[in-house]
Amino acid sequence: MQASLPPVPVPPARSLPLWRAIKVARGNTLAVIPAQAFEVPVFDQSSAILGRSFLVSDPEGVKRVLLDEVANYPKSEFQNRIFAAAFGDGILTSGGETWKAHRRLMAPAFDPRSVEAHAPMMAATARAFVDGWRPGETIDVAQAMAELSLKIIARAMFSGAGDDLGPRMDQTLRAMDVILADFGLIDVVPGVRGLRWRARERRIAAGFAVFDSWIAELIGSRRAAPAGGDLLDRLIAARDPETGLGLSDRQVRDQLVTIFVAGHETTAVVLAWTWYLLSQNPEAEARLHAELDASPGAPPAYARQVVEEAMRIFPPVPRIPLRRAAADDVICGVQIPKGAYVCVAPWVIHRHRSLWKDPERFDPGRFAGERPARFSYLPFGAGPRGCIGASLALTEVAIVLTEVARRYRLKLAPGQVVAMKPRMTLRPLGRIGMELVARAA
Ligand code: HEM
Repeated sequence: MQASLPPVPVPPARSLPLWRAIKVARGNTLAVIPAQAFEVPVFDQSSAILGRSFLVSDPEGVKRVLLDEVANYPKSEFQNRIFAAAFGDGILTSGGETWKAHRRLMAPAFDPRSVEAHAPMMAATARAFVDGWRPGETIDVAQAMAELSLKIIARAMFSGAGDDLGPRMDQTLRAMDVILADFGLIDVVPGVRGLRWRARERRIAAGFAVFDSWIAELIGSRRAAPAGGDLLDRLIAARDPETGLGLSDRQVRDQLVTIFVAGHETTAVVLAWTWYLLSQNPEAEARLHAELDASPGAPPAYARQVVEEAMRIFPPVPRIPLRRAAADDVICGVQIPKGAYVCVAPWVIHRHRSLWKDPERFDPGRFAGERPARFSYLPFGAGPRGCIGASLALTEVAIVLTEVARRYRLKLAPGQVVAMKPRMTLRPLGRIGMELVARAA
C-alpha cells in the first residue's frame, strides 16, 4: 500500500497573527501565504517585521518590476546579504556596472550553441550514473539527483575539474543547509537580524573553508595552464577594457561558487519533484514512456512538457530574490512607497486563480500548445536579472529525465511521506525514497 501525503499546504484563509506565522514558517515558509494572495493582482503583506511589503502577481505588474522599471527595483540589500555570505560578489549578488560586466563576460558560456554542445556529455553522464543503480533497490531520489546534477554542471562549466571537487561541494552545501535550516521569520526582525546574521556569516565562512581551499588550488593551477576555454578559463582570462585589470582570485572564486550552487541545486530540485509527480500520475508516466519508446534519440516533446509542468507546480525558486523600491511607484493601482519590499513569487503566480485553471492538478498538456501568457509562468524569473542558465537547465533536465526513464520507472517507496522544505529553493524535506523498477532494456 502506498502512503503519501500531498505535499502542498492549504493556504490559511487570512494572514496569520505574527506569533503563529513565525511558528508555521519554521516548518514551511510558503504555508503562511494566505488564500487572498492567490486571487489579487497585488497583495499587501506589510507586517511589523518587514515593514511595507507587497507580493506582485499580476503579469503586467511583474513585467513592471522585473523589466520595464527594473532600475527602480534593485535586489534588496537584506536579500543580498543572505546570499553574499556564501557567494561573495558573484553575479547573483552584485549590482550596477560590476554585475553588467560579469554577466556579459559569462553569457557566451550559456548561449544556445554552448548548451547544445554539452548535450552529449549530459546524456553520457546520466547513463553512466544510472549504470550504478540496480533494479529493485530503493534510492533517495533527492540525493541522487543532486549528485548527478553536480557532476553535470562541473563538466559543463569547469571541464570536469568538479568531478573531484563535487563531493566537497556537496559537503559544503550540506553544511550551509544546516546553517540555514534554522533560518526563520525571526531572522528578518530589524535589530535582531544583524546580530543573528553576523553569527551565521561566520558559520557559513567556516562551512566553506575546505571547499574554498580547493577552489584556490584550482584557480592557481588554471592560471598556470588553461584547460581549453571553459567558463573558468574565461573568467581568468577576462580583462577590463578600460583598466586592463583581470579578476582577482576572490572574484573568480565568487563566480565559481555562484555557478556551482545556482547551477546544481535548482536542477536537482526540479528532477526530484518530477520523479515524485510522475510516480503519483500514472497516466502522464505511461505517456512519457510511450513517447520515449517511440523516439530513441533526443528527448521527446512530452519530456519537456513534463518538466515545465513540474516547475509550475514546484517552482525550484519559489520566491524570486526580494526587490526594494528605490522611489515611489504605482503597480496595478496600488501605491508602492519608496523603500517597500516587492516580492515576485512563482509559487503564488503559478497557482494564481486568475491565471491557471485547476492549478493543483499536474497536467503536462498545459505546455503542449501555446506558451502560457508572458509573466504568468516564470520559474527562471525574467528581465535582465533573469536566470542566465535557463536553457542549459531545461536541456539538462529533459535529458536526465529521458535517460533515466528509458531504463527505470521510479516508484515511491511504501510508507514514504513526502513534504516540502522551502528555503531559497524548494527542496523536499529529507529523503524521497523511490524504488527502481527496471523497464525493458
Ligand atoms: C531549473 C533550474 C533553474 C531554475 C528554476 C533557476 C531559477 C533562477 C531564478 C528564479 C533566478 C533569479 C532571477 C531574478 O532574480 O530575477 C536565477 C538566477 C540565476 N541563475 Fe538560475 N535557475 C536554474 C538553473 C540555473 C543554472 C543551470 C545555472 C548556471 C549554470 C544558473 C545560474 C543562475 C545565475 C548565475 C543567476 C543570477 C543571474 C543574474 O543575477 O544576473 N541557474 N535562476
